[in-house]
Amino acid sequence: MLSLRLQAIANLIKKDDVVADIGSDHGLLVNYLAIKGHCALYASENKKGPYNRLKSELKAYKSDIIEIDLADGLENLPARINTVVIAGMGGELIVSILQAHPAKLVNVQKLILAPHCNAKAVREVLNALNYSISYEEIVVEKEVFYEIIVAEQKAIATKEVNPYFGTYHLQARSENFIKMWTSVYNQNKRILSNKKLPLSRKEELLKEQELIEKVISEGEKV
Ligand SMILES: C[S@@+](CC[C@H](N)C(=O)[O-])C[C@H]1O[C@@H](n2cnc3c(N)ncnc32)[C@H](O)[C@@H]1O
Repeated sequence: MLSLRLQAIANLIKKDDVVADIGSDHGLLVNYLAIKGHCALYASENKKGPYNRLKSELKAYKSDIIEIDLADGLENLPARINTVVIAGMGGELIVSILQAHPAKLVNVQKLILAPHCNAKAVREVLNALNYSISYEEIVVEKEVFYEIIVAEQKAIATKEVNPYFGTYHLQARSENFIKMWTSVYNQNKRILSNKKLPLSRKEELLKEQELIEKVISEGEKV
């Protein structure tokens, strides 16, 4: 069984999507997709150890169902791929993977990105790569919040108005979005109660608290 986070990602994949899972690690997502009938899947790792592990995890699948590759990010992305998943890494790493081989994104209609931190960095870069955010979701699993961003290729991409909170989230105001920012707000409050906190960090956090307060209590729209 997939975790709630991986299941939420799998639910965003349609029947006709030809999927690459970059940084596939355990291979659970592609394994699940193969069982669901997806073919021409691609799963990659950029280090030998994780790559060999991935190969042994997926040994039941013939290479005509899942192509397993030792590659850095998108460097070997096959032209057949129209959907790229990059999940379980920091936002900056996801950004560097997307920016390293822009030509490889030409046929990629949909990106499913699940940064475990700094979703802002991801939202900020999508417009320059010709993608617009079409959907966002926050999954809560064992009291941890996981953000999932879906972006689609556009001839002229729509600029993200609020990369910090996410324009999509500010409009949808889902229960988990409010819960996540309430949790960040309470965590910041605890940090701010530390009398030894450097002044610059205190000022930064107080500014953040002001923004979060507006969003969670006043229903700030974009
Ligand atoms: C924490 S795991 C996430 C696994 C899986 N995607 C998930 O969401 O559960 C991140 C994986 O990305 C791999 N990785 C990191 N940088 C990469 C890169 N540039 N190209 C391919 N894989 C990378 C790591 O080796 C690691 O196995």
